[in-house]
Amino acid sequence: MEEADLDDMTAVLSAPDPVHVDRPPRDRDDAVRWIEWQQRNYAEHDFGLWVVETHDGTFVGDCGLTMQDVEGTAHVEVGYHVMPDLRRHGYATEAARAVRDCAAAHGVEHLIALVRPENTPSQGVARALGMEVERTAYVHGVDALVFGMTLSNG
Ligand SMILES: CC(C)(COP(=O)(O)OP(=O)(O)OC[C@H]1O[C@@H](n2cnc3c(N)ncnc32)[C@H](O)[C@@H]1OP(=O)(O)O)[C@@H](O)C(=O)NCCC(=O)NCCS
Repeated sequence: MEEADLDDMTAVLSAPDPVHVDRPPRDRDDAVRWIEWQQRNYAEHDFGLWVVETHDGTFVGDCGLTMQDVEGTAHVEVGYHVMPDLRRHGYATEAARAVRDCAAAHGVEHLIALVRPENTPSQGVARALGMEVERTAYVHGVDALVFGMTLSNG
């Protein structure tokens, strides 16, 4: 993800979100900070959220790995966002499976997904990856379900 992705990232991050109606929509400035966050992630961890596109180059969204502090413990999280008109085609699942397998191949032993209880679509993706709810936690000022799974690189 780089500065040239700003229009696409603004589009996906500012899309109306049916499960988060209480949350103010993100704007272009948020997308700038989002991209800068990924640039820091790549530099610090060699991973971050990556741009997802189809084989013909159509922008789909993002998916990748970030570090998350869950009540004082650092975890590797898989995250994903898909353009509204491309949802429910299996793109998030396909991308997240590839990211999960990449994490396993690089020695990540435990992968989580932090999901708000009302975010049914995201829970569907987490379950499709083989994750189950491990516990609840208070993260980024809200209650979240902590989906997780043990990874094996064998
Ligand atoms: C969550 C999100 C990335 C899912 O992307 P997607 O490409 O539509 O997901 P998939 O097509 O791979 O769906 C995988 C499974 O999740 C479940 N699912 C996805 N969307 C759903 C919906 N609207 N309602 C119920 N279940 C849903 C289903 O079980 C689905 O499998 P199925 O289509 O075979 O039934 C997308 O809805 C999104 O971008 N939401 C806003 C951003 C967000 O909430 N990100 C996650 C933050 S934790």
